[in-house]
Amino acid sequence: MKVLMVCLGNICRSPLAEGILSHKANERGIEMDVDSAGTSNWHAGEGPDRRSVSTAKVHGINISRQRSRQFITQDFTDFDVIFVMDTDNRANVLKMAQSDEDRSKVRLMLDELAQGEDLNVPDPYYGGDQGFENVYQMLDEACDRFLANL
Ligand code: 4NP
Repeated sequence: MKVLMVCLGNICRSPLAEGILSHKANERGIEMDVDSAGTSNWHAGEGPDRRSVSTAKVHGINISRQRSRQFITQDFTDFDVIFVMDTDNRANVLKMAQSDEDRSKVRLMLDELAQGEDLNVPDPYYGGDQGFENVYQMLDEACDRFLANL
């Protein structure tokens, strides 16, 4: 299965989500390719925000080799599931969809925990380190639930 994690900059939330899901799938012997992308190209080519790198590291996950890239239409073909971190990301990704099949792949990350409530993974970019740990905990739970329901 191929899973894509999407946020705005692909430097804070989706790199954490990629690292967490990839780590958990690996631990459990589940075959899964995980990647991430941003709806913007603002940070293309950059590594993750240092606060995301250090938060992941505290939990034993190395995301430092990831590089930001923008979400592209081809991603609808290349991935089975496209998790978006918030409802803005969802709207922007859905604008690029070309078929019902494309649209059916797009899922809000926190729907794994609270289906239909439209809960967002908050953007931690302008906040402090606690925001990143908070995001980590949400993603950890959501990824656990996703894998448990496969
Ligand atoms: P992300 O966070 O979408 O979780 O990667 C952000 C990163 C950068 C910016 C906004 C959000 N920015 O405005 O540059």
